[in-house]
Amino acid sequence: MKTRSIRDTTFRKEEKEVEQMEFKKKILVIGSLNMDLVVETPHMPKAGETITGKSITNVLGGKGANQAYAAGKLGGNVGMIGAVGNDACGRALKQNLECVHVDTSGIEVLENEMSGQAFITVDDNGENAIIIIAGTNGMVTKEMIQKHIKKLKESDIIIMQMEIPVETVEYVKDLASKLGKLVIIDPAPAVSNLPDSFFQGVDYMKPNETELEILTGIKIQSQEQVTVGARNMLERGVKNVIVTLGSKGCLLVTEDGEEFFPAKKVRAVDTTAAGDSFTAAFALALSEGKNSREAIQFAQKVSAIAVTRKGAQTSIPTRAEADRG
Ligand code: RIB
Repeated sequence: MKTRSIRDTTFRKEEKEVEQMEFKKKILVIGSLNMDLVVETPHMPKAGETITGKSITNVLGGKGANQAYAAGKLGGNVGMIGAVGNDACGRALKQNLECVHVDTSGIEVLENEMSGQAFITVDDNGENAIIIIAGTNGMVTKEMIQKHIKKLKESDIIIMQMEIPVETVEYVKDLASKLGKLVIIDPAPAVSNLPDSFFQGVDYMKPNETELEILTGIKIQSQEQVTVGARNMLERGVKNVIVTLGSKGCLLVTEDGEEFFPAKKVRAVDTTAAGDSFTAAFALALSEGKNSREAIQFAQKVSAIAVTRKGAQTSIPTRAEADRG
């Protein structure tokens, strides 16, 4: 009788993993890495008010790193381009991505510079307010992208956010579009008065209501205004817009029409990284061959779990949890 050694089994498992990785399109996240200092507070302080907080914690975050971490943890074939300082925060941020098999060789370690920082308050309703200090995220330049151009060429799906310089985001978007890559932009933090050129050729733009208002200059107070805002982005050159509407759900708007996706009801304890986990899971699902409707439904499951947990990267579910919903 032929017996199979443990070595054979391990080899087959590795072979299977490689096959699965090859089937998946490659995701490249270009963006920020931050160390988050999170203060839990009963309510947000008003201007001039002093209140007593409940706790203070350091959590690994940054919109770019959160997205790379989530896509990696969910089983994607993921790489990241970004920058950290040669400090404890930078090392921890890179290591955490490596734990979920993200290729971090595109993350530069800059001497004598400080890694990005975020100061986050989370209230009893799970709502947050965030102030970021760019640090090395502000040094992710076109030149740095050119240095890692091979990674861009080898990837299929490019995800960006706006915690690195806007010029870099637009530069990558133009380059990636020319190379036939699928470009997803999570426009956070949003910037007003961007030129139309910024929007042209973006495959998916994923603002929330506040970001939609800032980006378009259109007051968003009703579902109709959400559609008007999203259509404004289409007119300026975005191919598909997904507006996330918090606990209500999200709206997909394309030139063929629009579709509303209601959200699952959950008890949110911390909405930090809800948008990041949504974007990452959406990209991951596309990378596995799902269509945009299926990808949105998967992304909703992932972010619904993320908001029930504290912190940014600490809130991301495993693939098994996400599949169970
Ligand atoms: O989206 C959440 C993230 O925003 C936090 O992790 C913080 O670092 C800021 O970038």
